[in-house]
Amino acid sequence: MHSILPLPARLTLLALLTMATLPAGAALPGDVARGRALLLQRQDSGCILCHVLPGLPPGGALGPPLVDLARRYDSDALRLRIADARSVNPDTVMPPYFSTEGLRNVARSRAGLTVLSEQALADIVAYLLAAPGPDDDRR
Ligand code: HEC
Repeated sequence: MHSILPLPARLTLLALLTMATLPAGAALPGDVARGRALLLQRQDSGCILCHVLPGLPPGGALGPPLVDLARRYDSDALRLRIADARSVNPDTVMPPYFSTEGLRNVARSRAGLTVLSEQALADIVAYLLAAPGPDDDRR
Protein backbone atom coordinates (compact mmCIF):
# COMPACT_ATOMS: atom_id res chain seq x y z
CA MET A 1 0.00 0.00 0.00
CA HIS A 2 1.34 3.37 -0.95
CA SER A 3 0.77 6.11 1.58
CA ILE A 4 1.80 9.71 1.98
CA LEU A 5 2.27 9.03 5.72
CA PRO A 6 5.57 7.63 7.02
CA LEU A 7 5.32 4.15 8.60
CA PRO A 8 5.35 5.23 12.30
CA ALA A 9 2.52 7.66 11.62
CA ARG A 10 0.54 4.95 9.85
CA LEU A 11 1.04 2.56 12.77
CA THR A 12 -0.07 5.21 15.24
CA LEU A 13 -3.15 5.87 13.14
CA LEU A 14 -3.91 2.16 13.00
CA ALA A 15 -3.55 1.85 16.78
CA LEU A 16 -5.86 4.82 17.32
CA LEU A 17 -8.45 3.39 14.92
CA THR A 18 -8.29 0.02 16.68
CA MET A 19 -8.75 1.68 20.07
CA ALA A 20 -11.66 3.74 18.78
CA THR A 21 -13.48 0.67 17.51
CA LEU A 22 -13.18 -1.28 20.77
CA PRO A 23 -16.33 -0.76 22.85
CA ALA A 24 -15.68 0.91 26.22
CA GLY A 25 -14.91 -1.62 28.92
CA ALA A 26 -14.22 -4.40 26.40
CA ALA A 27 -11.74 -6.92 27.70
CA LEU A 28 -8.28 -6.10 26.39
CA PRO A 29 -6.07 -9.07 25.61
CA GLY A 30 -3.71 -9.54 28.56
CA ASP A 31 -0.04 -10.39 28.40
CA VAL A 32 1.12 -13.02 30.91
CA ALA A 33 4.78 -11.89 31.01
CA ARG A 34 3.84 -8.25 31.52
CA GLY A 35 1.36 -9.33 34.20
CA ARG A 36 4.09 -11.24 36.03
CA ALA A 37 6.38 -8.20 35.96
CA LEU A 38 3.60 -5.98 37.31
CA LEU A 39 2.73 -8.38 40.13
CA LEU A 40 6.37 -8.50 41.16
CA GLN A 41 7.11 -4.83 41.47
CA ARG A 42 6.40 -2.78 44.54
CA GLN A 43 5.97 0.73 43.16
CA ASP A 44 2.75 0.59 41.17
CA SER A 45 1.00 -2.65 42.05
CA GLY A 46 2.41 -3.71 45.42
CA CYS A 47 0.45 -6.98 45.11
CA ILE A 48 3.36 -9.03 46.40
CA LEU A 49 3.49 -7.00 49.62
CA CYS A 50 0.16 -8.54 50.66
CA HIS A 51 -0.11 -11.76 48.66
CA VAL A 52 1.80 -14.95 48.09
CA LEU A 53 1.75 -15.48 44.32
CA PRO A 54 2.36 -18.72 42.45
CA GLY A 55 5.59 -18.71 40.47
CA LEU A 56 6.93 -15.57 42.19
CA PRO A 57 9.31 -14.93 45.12
CA PRO A 58 7.75 -15.07 48.63
CA GLY A 59 5.07 -12.45 49.22
CA GLY A 60 3.26 -10.96 52.20
CA ALA A 61 0.45 -12.48 54.22
CA LEU A 62 -1.94 -9.57 54.77
CA GLY A 63 -4.11 -10.95 51.97
CA PRO A 64 -4.83 -14.58 51.06
CA PRO A 65 -2.40 -16.49 48.81
CA LEU A 66 -3.49 -15.92 45.20
CA VAL A 67 -3.61 -19.57 44.24
CA ASP A 68 -6.09 -21.55 42.14
CA LEU A 69 -7.92 -18.42 41.07
CA ALA A 70 -8.75 -19.91 37.68
CA ARG A 71 -10.88 -22.51 39.45
CA ARG A 72 -12.94 -19.89 41.27
CA TYR A 73 -13.08 -16.87 38.99
CA ASP A 74 -13.58 -16.06 35.34
CA SER A 75 -11.64 -13.09 33.98
CA ASP A 76 -14.46 -10.56 34.56
CA ALA A 77 -14.92 -11.57 38.19
CA LEU A 78 -11.18 -11.53 38.80
CA ARG A 79 -10.81 -8.17 37.08
CA LEU A 80 -13.56 -6.66 39.24
CA ARG A 81 -11.94 -8.04 42.38
CA ILE A 82 -8.69 -6.23 41.53
CA ALA A 83 -10.22 -3.10 39.97
CA ASP A 84 -12.16 -2.39 43.15
CA ALA A 85 -12.09 -4.95 45.97
CA ARG A 86 -14.61 -2.76 47.83
CA SER A 87 -17.26 -4.14 45.47
CA VAL A 88 -16.95 -7.41 47.40
CA ASN A 89 -15.85 -6.18 50.82
CA PRO A 90 -16.52 -2.48 51.51
CA ASP A 91 -14.06 -2.61 54.45
CA THR A 92 -11.20 -4.25 52.55
CA VAL A 93 -7.63 -3.07 53.09
CA MET A 94 -6.85 -3.88 49.46
CA PRO A 95 -6.46 -0.66 47.44
CA PRO A 96 -8.83 -0.05 44.52
CA TYR A 97 -6.58 -0.34 41.47
CA PHE A 98 -8.98 0.93 38.84
CA SER A 99 -11.20 3.36 40.64
CA THR A 100 -10.80 6.88 41.95
CA GLU A 101 -14.11 6.86 43.85
CA GLY A 102 -14.02 7.83 47.49
CA LEU A 103 -10.25 8.32 47.76
CA ARG A 104 -9.03 11.04 50.11
CA ASN A 105 -5.79 13.03 50.36
CA VAL A 106 -4.50 11.79 47.02
CA ALA A 107 -1.27 13.51 45.93
CA ARG A 108 -2.12 16.32 43.54
CA SER A 109 -0.01 14.74 40.78
CA ARG A 110 -2.14 11.56 41.02
CA ALA A 111 -5.56 13.15 41.42
CA GLY A 112 -8.13 11.59 39.10
CA LEU A 113 -5.73 8.84 38.01
CA THR A 114 -6.25 5.14 38.63
CA VAL A 115 -3.35 3.17 40.11
CA LEU A 116 -3.26 0.73 37.21
CA SER A 117 -4.28 1.12 33.57
CA GLU A 118 -6.94 -1.05 31.93
CA GLN A 119 -4.12 -2.80 30.05
CA ALA A 120 -2.12 -3.46 33.23
CA LEU A 121 -5.22 -4.93 34.83
CA ALA A 122 -5.75 -7.22 31.83
CA ASP A 123 -2.10 -8.32 32.01
CA ILE A 124 -2.37 -9.15 35.73
CA VAL A 125 -5.58 -11.10 35.19
CA ALA A 126 -3.91 -13.02 32.35
CA TYR A 127 -1.03 -14.05 34.63
CA LEU A 128 -3.28 -15.02 37.53
CA LEU A 129 -5.53 -17.17 35.34
CA ALA A 130 -2.54 -18.88 33.71
CA ALA A 131 -0.60 -19.27 36.98
CA PRO A 132 0.48 -22.77 37.97
CA GLY A 133 -1.94 -24.69 40.21
CA PRO A 134 -1.12 -26.69 43.38
CA ASP A 135 -0.19 -29.87 41.50
CA ASP A 136 2.05 -28.10 39.06
CA ASP A 137 5.86 -28.45 39.31
CA ARG A 138 6.38 -24.84 38.23
CA ARG A 139 5.03 -23.67 41.56
C1 HEC B 1 -2.68 -3.87 51.43
C2 HEC B 1 -2.74 -5.27 51.10
C3 HEC B 1 -3.15 -5.70 49.71
C4 HEC B 1 -2.59 -5.32 48.51
C5 HEC B 1 -1.47 -4.33 48.26
C6 HEC B 1 -3.27 -6.13 47.49
N1 HEC B 1 -4.22 -6.92 48.06
FE1 HEC B 1 -5.39 -8.27 47.12
N2 HEC B 1 -6.35 -8.70 48.88
C7 HEC B 1 -6.00 -8.19 50.11
C8 HEC B 1 -6.90 -8.74 51.11
C9 HEC B 1 -6.85 -8.44 52.62
C10 HEC B 1 -7.78 -9.62 50.46
C11 HEC B 1 -8.89 -10.48 51.10
C12 HEC B 1 -10.28 -10.10 50.82
C13 HEC B 1 -10.66 -8.72 51.31
O1 HEC B 1 -10.94 -8.51 52.48
O2 HEC B 1 -10.66 -7.82 50.45
C14 HEC B 1 -7.40 -9.57 49.03
C15 HEC B 1 -8.00 -10.32 48.04
C16 HEC B 1 -7.55 -10.42 46.74
C17 HEC B 1 -8.10 -11.30 45.74
C18 HEC B 1 -9.21 -12.33 45.96
C19 HEC B 1 -8.54 -13.61 46.45
C20 HEC B 1 -9.47 -14.76 46.65
O3 HEC B 1 -8.95 -15.85 46.96
O4 HEC B 1 -10.68 -14.63 46.49
C21 HEC B 1 -7.40 -11.09 44.60
C22 HEC B 1 -7.58 -11.78 43.27
C23 HEC B 1 -6.41 -10.07 44.88
N3 HEC B 1 -6.53 -9.69 46.19
C24 HEC B 1 -5.49 -9.61 43.95
C25 HEC B 1 -4.60 -8.56 44.20
C26 HEC B 1 -3.75 -8.00 43.20
C27 HEC B 1 -3.65 -8.49 41.76
C28 HEC B 1 -3.06 -6.98 43.79
C29 HEC B 1 -2.12 -5.99 43.15
C30 HEC B 1 -2.58 -5.33 41.94
C31 HEC B 1 -3.47 -6.95 45.20
N4 HEC B 1 -4.41 -7.92 45.39
C32 HEC B 1 -2.97 -6.07 46.13
C33 HEC B 1 -4.98 -7.30 50.36
C34 HEC B 1 -4.19 -6.69 49.41
